[in-house]
Amino acid sequence: MAKSVGVLTAGGDSPGLNAAIRAIGKAAIGSFGMQFIGFRDGFRGLVENRTVRLDEAALSGILIVGGTLLGTSRDKPHRMPIGSKVLDMTDTIVETYYKHHLDVLVCLGGGGTHKNGFRLQQAGLNIITLPKTIDNDLAMTDTTLGFDTALSIATEAIDRLHSTAHSHHRIIVVEIMGHNAGWLALGAGIAGGAHVVLIPEIPYDINTVANSIRQRSRYGKNFSIVVVAEGAMSQEDAKFIKSNEKSSNKAKNKKAKNLLKEQLKQFKSQQADNTRNLTEKLESLTGLESRITTLGHLQRGGTPSATDRLLATRLGTACTHMIKKEEYGVMMAVKGEQVLPVKLEEVVGKRKIVPMNHSWIKTANDVGICLGN
Ligand code: F6P
Repeated sequence: MAKSVGVLTAGGDSPGLNAAIRAIGKAAIGSFGMQFIGFRDGFRGLVENRTVRLDEAALSGILIVGGTLLGTSRDKPHRMPIGSKVLDMTDTIVETYYKHHLDVLVCLGGGGTHKNGFRLQQAGLNIITLPKTIDNDLAMTDTTLGFDTALSIATEAIDRLHSTAHSHHRIIVVEIMGHNAGWLALGAGIAGGAHVVLIPEIPYDINTVANSIRQRSRYGKNFSIVVVAEGAMSQEDAKFIKSNEKSSNKAKNKKAKNLLKEQLKQFKSQQADNTRNLTEKLESLTGLESRITTLGHLQRGGTPSATDRLLATRLGTACTHMIKKEEYGVMMAVKGEQVLPVKLEEVVGKRKIVPMNHSWIKTANDVGICLGN
């Protein structure tokens, strides 16, 4: 019997998703004679049984197309808004899986998608995941699909900001995505020749940042590019978060815990304010006029880089070999030059942030980038 493969994309989109869907499909249909079917808008597509026919014609011409032809969402199987309620839809998803006689469901996504895929595996489904996120924060894989393209976009933006910052003798603060990890900001900051890079892993001291900008002025360089990761925080804010987390762990009752959690959520959601505060403070401490550029979703849009197309194709084809061998419950991980399976339980609940001893940190220090500490 030909195997039947379902596929969905979940979480934030990223360049290279279509290239990965194409690769799975080409190998599954062309090399192994499998059936291939797509589900729309992440896990919601399984709940609502909304499918996309993925035959050879549908897979043609999508290698270079950004986004995902399947659509995506951040819906979780076990807590899905349905009308005015939030319901556990796991059983419905399981039903749809069997209705389509699937042998496996391939889920392309980041941290949340891996958790959700693992839950479905525990509910009895065969799951394989592919690591996709521009944040590069998935554990157990060297890199993730979409990161390289986002890195190039952010680097090009920093390149372009140099000339305008230089002409106007300004500080330009550029906010870069990455959730709670600094990979994108640090990578683009180094590649783009930023003068300051602030990442969540290294809480910053505003005076250290201002001093490094003043120092540049003393050498006649009256402009600076400050890259700030969206999760970056000052040393005071880091202290607040730490003590909140401590109290939350100690809190005896659920109500107190939830209150503290809510406080923390609100605090973290004020990113735009944090970047604005940082920029205003730098302006007043250095006397240099300052501006903010928020790259936002530009970093996720458009055609994937050659590296991401290659990665997508390697991940997708390696995934079909696992299906052929009926080895499920794994993420296809990048390990050096290889794509290897890693058990889902080893991936979920972990987050890969920039370790303090990482070579990029050393590199940044060596070329004189101020990291704010
Ligand atoms: O995880 C990818 C990412 O782009 C993060 O860098 C960012 O914090 C988040 O998604 C933005 O999500 P949304 O597109 O839902 O606003």
